Amino acid sequence: MQELKQAFQNQFGEEGKATFFAPGRVNLIGEHTDYNGGHVFPCALSVGTYAVVNKREDSKLRFYSMNFPELGIIETEMDSLKYVEEHDWANYPKGVIETFNKNGYEITTGMDVAFYGNIPNGAGLSSSASIELATSVILKDLFDLSIDRIEMIKLSQKAENEFVGVNCGIMDQFAIGMGKRDHAILLNCDTLDFQHTPISLTEHSLIISNTNKRRGLADSKYNERRTQCEEALKALQQSLDIHSLGDLTKETFEENKYLIKDPVTEKRAKHAVYENNRTIEAVDKLNAGDIEGFGQLMNESHVSLRDDYEVTGKELDALVEAAWNEGAVGSRMTGAGFGGCTISIVNQDQVDSFIERVGQAYYKQTNLEADFYVVEIGDGAKKLEEE
Ligand code: GLA
Repeated sequence: MQELKQAFQNQFGEEGKATFFAPGRVNLIGEHTDYNGGHVFPCALSVGTYAVVNKREDSKLRFYSMNFPELGIIETEMDSLKYVEEHDWANYPKGVIETFNKNGYEITTGMDVAFYGNIPNGAGLSSSASIELATSVILKDLFDLSIDRIEMIKLSQKAENEFVGVNCGIMDQFAIGMGKRDHAILLNCDTLDFQHTPISLTEHSLIISNTNKRRGLADSKYNERRTQCEEALKALQQSLDIHSLGDLTKETFEENKYLIKDPVTEKRAKHAVYENNRTIEAVDKLNAGDIEGFGQLMNESHVSLRDDYEVTGKELDALVEAAWNEGAVGSRMTGAGFGGCTISIVNQDQVDSFIERVGQAYYKQTNLEADFYVVEIGDGAKKLEEE
């Protein structure tokens, strides 16, 4: 924070006053279910995005990121907020400001903001949703908005959908907005009913492994998968009274899948339905103290994402297989896929050897070095106290 305040001073020539934090997130199970009206089970991380902010008198917006010093200060005006390729990461805060404005939360003046993030970018740990929620808490505080958390979460998602053009679901913004230390969130993405579930692992650790294969959602097949699920839903609705794939049990899906004519579309829908059911089952197991059962379902989740949803790729598969071979209780890709990270449950006394051996096996397979982080589950987006 000291360095970020210094960077603010250097860039904007005055002391930055208010400070904010929004975490990254990791999803434990329930992948590609959010936009299908299903369940997800993510948690907020202790790493995230820090921001130092001053409100301005005029309508200028100036953004600086310590992570992208080569981009310098990105400057724009409140009344001309459009997606601009060269503005790169700054399109996220711009999008949130524009979306607040368009939805009746008036942002009347500009601001100077300096950001620093310690979430690895492009790793599927939601560095973009983290910037969005950081911006939302900034706006609420600076402009004294009467807006609740759920609305902030929804507007952040809307910014990503409409301003950035990524058709993401609500999981990331929700996890980052509603995170709670040492808890994961079981969220019904259809109703937004949610429950904080304690994750008190005494004999196990959660480990994030980064393939270091980067990807951005905008250039991935993410939107294509969404469209395929919508097509499957339409086909099933010919004889079923459902409004999302999340409404289906495995049995009802099996009885009616003949309605989906295209076999690839059928596989996509199968994943969405089975993964949703698996997520509910997994959380039941966790609540009953059956960590092995939870891990087994994580493994099944990966297989389904690999074979039916086809969003893994050779790096994620290599990392997960190495984890399985090294005795992980459970391991799967996490986030959108196509690169990014895996999440594994590992016996606490095997963490060091796990990291060493999985790293070696992965390197052998891919010629890439993986990074490993032991997960600490943190709180949601917030204003930081004055020192
Ligand atoms: C990305 C999206 C989320 C969700 C996941 C897949 O992280 O932003 O909304 O769809 O992929 O589970």
